Order: sequence, then C-alpha cells, then structure tokens
Amino acid sequence: MATVRETVEIEAPIERVWAVVHEDFPNAGKWSSNLEKVEVLTDGPTRRGTELRYLLITPGGKQELEVEHTTVTPGKTVAGRFVKGPLKGDWKYSYSQREGRTRLTYTMDYGPNGFAARLFFGIIERQLPSDVAKTMRSLKKYVESGRGPRPPKAQSPADEIFLDLEDSVAPGAKVAARGQVVDSLRSYEFAGKVRVVRVNACDTRWCYEDIVTVVEGAGDRLDCLMIPKVEDVDHVHFVDNLLNQVEWKLGLERRIGLELQIESARGMENIHAIAGASRRAETLIFGPADFSASLKVPELTVGRLKPEYPGDYWHYFLARVVVAARANGLQPIDGPYAQIRDLDGLRTFAGRAAMLGFDGKWALNPAQVDVLNEVFAPKQEDFDKAVAIVEAYREATDVDQTGAVMLGEEMIDEASRKMAAVMVERGEAFGMTARPWSPASPAR
Ligand code: GLV
Ligand code: MG
Repeated sequence: MATVRETVEIEAPIERVWAVVHEDFPNAGKWSSNLEKVEVLTDGPTRRGTELRYLLITPGGKQELEVEHTTVTPGKTVAGRFVKGPLKGDWKYSYSQREGRTRLTYTMDYGPNGFAARLFFGIIERQLPSDVAKTMRSLKKYVESGRGPRPPKAQSPADEIFLDLEDSVAPGAKVAARGQVVDSLRSYEFAGKVRVVRVNACDTRWCYEDIVTVVEGAGDRLDCLMIPKVEDVDHVHFVDNLLNQVEWKLGLERRIGLELQIESARGMENIHAIAGASRRAETLIFGPADFSASLKVPELTVGRLKPEYPGDYWHYFLARVVVAARANGLQPIDGPYAQIRDLDGLRTFAGRAAMLGFDGKWALNPAQVDVLNEVFAPKQEDFDKAVAIVEAYREATDVDQTGAVMLGEEMIDEASRKMAAVMVERGEAFGMTARPWSPASPAR
C-alpha cells in the first residue's frame, strides 16, 4: 500500500469549497486532473453510502473507478473507499477553517486491485503524488476565481429564518421533512440571518431523531434549535444533553443554541426555571395558538385581539414571558398572528409586544415582515432623543462631575441613561443614524 497526502489553503469559506468538491460532481473535470467524467450512482445529496463512478485517464489507458462514501461529517470530513477498479484502499478529505480561509487535506491510502493494476502500479505510484498536488492547486484556483456553484441566497428582510418540523408538517410527512430541512440548510446561503430548525416536542416520538438527523446533517449551518411546548426543565435538559453528545461526536466547534417556546399552562407555570435551565438558551418564545388551546380559551383565530375582553387578554402572559426572559438574559419573542392579510391587526398586536419590551415577533408570511420591522424599530425622534440623553449624561458625569442633570424640562440620571442606551442599541441594530435633537423639538 502507498500513501499520498496533499494540503491546500483556499481563500474561501468551507461551504464554497465543499459545494465544489462534494456537491457539483458534473463539473469535477474542470478542476480535477486526469478525470474525464463522474457519474453519481446513488440518489440525493452526498451522504454516507453515496457512490460515484470516475472515468480516469491513467498511464494504462482509460479506467473506471468506483468509490463509496463511508463518512460524511458536514464541514469536517468526507471519507470513502474504492469499491471497483484498478485501486483498492481509502481516501479522505479533511476540512478546517481559519479567518474565512479553508484548509483542505486530501489523503489516500491505496494499492493495486487485480493483476493488470499490479503491472502498472509502479507507474501509478510514481505519478499519483504529482497528479494529486496538481488537482489540489487547480481546485484552489477554480474556487478562488469564483467558479463553481454559488448557493442561492435566502431573500428576506427577516433577522431569523426557521424551518419547521413541528405543527406545519403532517405526521406522515415528518420523516421526509427532516431530509428537506437538511438539504435547505446545506443549499441556501442565509447570510447574516439566524438559522433555526423547530423540531417536534420532547414528548413526541419524533424529537430525538429530528435532532440527531438535523444536527448530523447540517449542524455546522445551524445556529439554534427551537423546542416547542417546553413544559419543564427536564425537556430543556434532555435536548441540552443530546446536543452535547451529537456535537462531541461531530467535533462541532460552535455550540448550537436553544429557542424555547412557552405555549401551555404548565410551561407558563415553570417559565422561570425553564428560562434558566441551560446556558444554550438564547430566546423565549410565546406561542399563542397552543397556549389558547392549553387554557381552553373559546377562540378560533391565532393571536387575535379580543375586542369583547375588557382590557388586553394577552397582557398578563406576555408580561410574564418578558420578565422571565430578561431575568435570564434571553430575548423575548412573540409568536404568530395568523390573519395574514390583516396587516393593521398585526401592527396593533406587534406594537403591544414591542411596548412590553419584546425583541420581535414571528412572521408567517413575507408580507408580515416589513410591518414587524417597522414596529420593532425605534421611531426616529425617540432614537435621536435617546442619543441626546446618553450624550448629555456623559457630559454631565465626565466633564461636570454631576449625577442627575436637567435636559430641557426633564431630569436625567443613570437610570435614564440605561433606558436610553437600550433604545440606542436597538436603533443601531436597525442601522439608524441620529439627527441633532434638542429639548425644544416638538413635543410628542
Ligand atoms: C406557535 O407555535 C403557537 O402555538 O402559537
Ligand atoms: Mg405552537
């Protein structure tokens, strides 16, 4: 047996190199030397069991070589073995990333397969290292010159995109949906967006396999898992421990976060413990649909305002979510509003959540996203005033050495600065820039 090993550093993220090497087989001849054609013998995306047939130009003439993938660890390793043709042995691509650059090592342990191959093995063994080196150099050039597949961009002004395996997927379609979710995560570019998959609840028969399939298939492209119907801390601990094991197995460098949906009477009763149950938790989400069902509320429209109710029916529950989230450093997010065409209703409802301190709300349809962005962004006058408060307070404390000062008719102190800082941070996240503000600006 002989070994060949070659490493290249490519100025591109792993996803791009990966897509060229493991997802665009028809064009492999454009960067791989000695290769006339690749045929994919199995269906679906590259995974364990995928088989390829190469037509190679070798010193002994054209040769067919079949390989089978034995390991596919997204973003890390693709390995396989030769199953038919002049070589036996195995091969491996290992990936690592530093500062947006990909380091790729190709290793091959090989020997001749059959009498004819043994005759030519001396020549193969002499030539292969330089062929592999040439192929790796040409792969680098190919990717760096911008060739190869470019993943389509997920177009949306939303901050987060979540792919659902839970209540929008029929029981009979749940298993197939896992593969579709993995394919979407692998094939779209979600640049700058939080990438989330909602799995089925911990007390269903699907949860465990949802998590394992999605994380093993696309854990390197996933920011958070959303866990619906969280009832108590044991649900959170179950997911946390399972994720630990899958992440260790895959060698994932980044921990996957958790978004926890509170949508039952029991979940609401245990909300503080749930919110503090795992360091992975990032977000607490209120789910009005399941919550209404759990409370046996006589209502048929998800997230609706009830005009007959004296006051805001949802206020108490939303306030509990925001307190539990803030007490544990999580972001509170409000759930869906199902009247897709009623943008005014959405605006009212989202406005109430925003006033309570929520960071955002679900959109079920692209038409809802613009309304939500408008509602959750600070008003320009408020942002201007917030910047003015921070600046006036800095001047008062740093230069004049006073604590509380007057800004126009209003006293401001450290607490005012904190309130203003929240608004400045939010406005900056929305890309706002402050205009000059003075206390004489029209009263609002
Ligand atoms: C969302 O999942 C809801 O139940 O409202
Ligand atoms: Mg729900």
